Amino acid sequence: MKIFKTIDAMRDFVMTARCEGKTVGLMPTLGGMHEGHFSLIRAARAACDVVVVSIFLNPTQFAPNEDLDAYPSTPHADCDACESLGVDAIFTPDVETMYPQGEATEVQVPALARHLCGKDRPIHFGGVCVVVSKLFNIIPAHKAFFGAKDYQQSAIIRKMVKDLNVDIEIVVCPTVRESDGLAMSSRNAYLSAEEREQAPALHGALQLAREMIASGEKDPNVVLDAMRNHLATHAPAGEIDYVNLFDPDTLEDVATCDGPVHSALAVRFGGARLIDNMRVDGV
Ligand code: PAJ
Repeated sequence: MKIFKTIDAMRDFVMTARCEGKTVGLMPTLGGMHEGHFSLIRAARAACDVVVVSIFLNPTQFAPNEDLDAYPSTPHADCDACESLGVDAIFTPDVETMYPQGEATEVQVPALARHLCGKDRPIHFGGVCVVVSKLFNIIPAHKAFFGAKDYQQSAIIRKMVKDLNVDIEIVVCPTVRESDGLAMSSRNAYLSAEEREQAPALHGALQLAREMIASGEKDPNVVLDAMRNHLATHAPAGEIDYVNLFDPDTLEDVATCDGPVHSALAVRFGGARLIDNMRVDGV
């Protein structure tokens, strides 16, 4: 497995593979890897001849009051895991390599970024779009792999790629969960024992929404109230940032649960902000 820290060497490696007729898959990460990340690497391994994983804790997607400094960093374990999963190359640049100062370009998808997490994290998706655009240019892969765990992120990246005619296929893979339903996340490491016990309530609230809609409930406010009650009962240590029912394509709130509905929520446990989402209309 090769480890690249410079843009030129990384790009040369991918261009050589492409010239040899190989398909290239990219899996971008912030590091602090877990089974959720590994599932995407396995999907890339199964679909592509050459698999590149980027490990870059991108500072521009964190606001000053967020957890950049505390974010779990496990570079040795990440590299070992990548090696054993058959990754061909890791791209792990430092911040100066990615942001040599003086950059002035923004990439935004405001129609999708203003909803859900974008309300609490107004600079987040702009930072994600710039870094993912840079990664797509440095690593011109055929396919890039993202997780459904970050539903809004994958919707924004798909739209960005479509609007900008980027020649890369976005593959979105299912959310990997702990046995009690908690979606795997690097941020789960922040939870105290008590918070960890309560955290599966996010998944429970999503399942409740799905059950209510399957039983014929059409009023989003009734479903949202039940979800909030579920969280208040089962996760009293959690503080709700948002609980939403929205159109899976536009991310706009739905007026009725009659058609396509997706649900997402964000809950804070102390310094840990957890998110989860699920299609809840039975599709
Ligand atoms: P990161 O949080 O490291 O996640 C990397 C990828 O793993 C994302 O596509 C995310 O959706 C996916 N992922 C995380 N937890 C998952 C789970 N439980 N099941 C399935 N997939 C999961 O998302 C980012 O990094 C960054 O914003 C990035 C795209 C790398 C840009 O900096």
